[in-house]
Amino acid sequence: MCPPADGDADALSDERDWSDAAGTREDAEAESTREYIHVASTRDFAKTAAIVRELRGHEIVIFRIGDAYHAVTNVCPHQHSPVLAEGMLDGCIVTCPMHGWSFDVVTGRTVNASGRLKQYTLRVEGDAILILDPGPPLDLAW
Ligand code: FES
Repeated sequence: MCPPADGDADALSDERDWSDAAGTREDAEAESTREYIHVASTRDFAKTAAIVRELRGHEIVIFRIGDAYHAVTNVCPHQHSPVLAEGMLDGCIVTCPMHGWSFDVVTGRTVNASGRLKQYTLRVEGDAILILDPGPPLDLAW
């Protein structure tokens, strides 16, 4: 069963976090000036549970799970392959088609490996799906 959409942020705080929300004052100020960007429509999910969008250099996959939408990086942290949208989705768990690493798309947590997925802040207004401007792309020299 998938956790609630808002998750338990405190429970995740001790894990490696690829998100932009590092919790510093500068981060909070930067986030407050960002805008939400229209990236998709709920109608785009009539025949699929996952769609990919490029946004400011970020390759993002939006998953529909029931009536909820979740946005995470499409790039698998194992070998940095942009393939998670092509993975098998079982509930809220997506399994990378390359080597089988699995991730909870609601929390970003890895199920059977280490690390976690970068999550993107998303909201739905009517049938419009909007993502908070993610800022510059990630440095993937990890
Ligand atoms: S690239 Fe995803 S598990 Fe290897």
